[in-house]
Amino acid sequence: MRIFKKTAAVILAIMMFMSLAGCGNNKAPVSNDSSDTGTDEKSKSIYVGFVQVGAESDWRMANTKSMQETFTEAKGYKFEMVDAQQKTDKQITAIRDFIQKDVDYIVLAPNTEAGWDTVLGEAKAAGIPVIIVDRMIQTNDNSLFTAWVGSNFKQEGYDAVTALENVLKSKGIPDTQEINIVTLQGTMGSSAQIGRTDGFAEKMAAHKNWKMLDKQSGDFTQEKGQEVMESFLKSYPDIDVVISENDNMSFGAVKAIKAAGKTCGPKGDITIVSFDAVHAAFEAMIAGDIDVDVECNPLHGPRVEKLIKALEAGESVDKIAYVDEDVFYAKDAASIIGKRAY
Ligand code: AHR
Repeated sequence: MRIFKKTAAVILAIMMFMSLAGCGNNKAPVSNDSSDTGTDEKSKSIYVGFVQVGAESDWRMANTKSMQETFTEAKGYKFEMVDAQQKTDKQITAIRDFIQKDVDYIVLAPNTEAGWDTVLGEAKAAGIPVIIVDRMIQTNDNSLFTAWVGSNFKQEGYDAVTALENVLKSKGIPDTQEINIVTLQGTMGSSAQIGRTDGFAEKMAAHKNWKMLDKQSGDFTQEKGQEVMESFLKSYPDIDVVISENDNMSFGAVKAIKAAGKTCGPKGDITIVSFDAVHAAFEAMIAGDIDVDVECNPLHGPRVEKLIKALEAGESVDKIAYVDEDVFYAKDAASIIGKRAY
């Protein structure tokens, strides 16, 4: 791998520099490039190319901010980000551009899971390590990426079932009562959608009185979430629960429910189970619109930096790392909101 090919040359260069300079503490960041002479920009910085999904949600904005605040010039990075506007083909083009630019690391937040083998094979052939973040890819060749860090989306789906059990119990709804559910799904084919949909379906099977009326994608955006919810409300007059696979679609659903003359939240007609737990969702829980929120943590910048630092130091890293996540109920939102980082 490129990093190992270069390590010996880099260590030698640093030792020569230190002995010539007569100092014991060289703070200049280490370059990945063995062809560096020590005078061009690459010798001073680690070049990170970040292929982002888009700007579809509050979660995504917090994720972008975390990356931008981590990979700063002041800390010795050259950072470039491409916003792929939720298009997998734009992400593939962006990876090819970063290969052309000979970046030191490609960080990929994949929009959908399928179709990465060819382009990641090209990155591998170019000797550029790929770190995958947030969602995952489908591949039979794990050598195509160096490491992945993100959420256990299936566990989030399981957690949503437990959360709904707790909410229904707190509302005094008996186990025998039929519960009509609709799901606002995220971007179809993305790990966040697949994991949450499958995890929820698997665990809800234990509840014979829960009925899934419909599932449809709102593409993780508020606008589409609202549109889909409007059409659900027209088709199904008796919805009890909305499972909304992210907060922004929940915000759209709340608007649609209120516009239809119905109520939602802990004291309302319709229970809303959401995912992400962004700041605005805490506000919606405090306002009484959302019942419960399954956390999805977007603060991946420092996690990716830790991986890059370890790789720069020639250390091995965990191939797969899951982030710890929690579940938050409306009744606790006011006491927790002040402690939230996003
Ligand atoms: O992949 C994480 C998901 O993507 C978040 O739940 C969602 O808000 C975002 O768009």
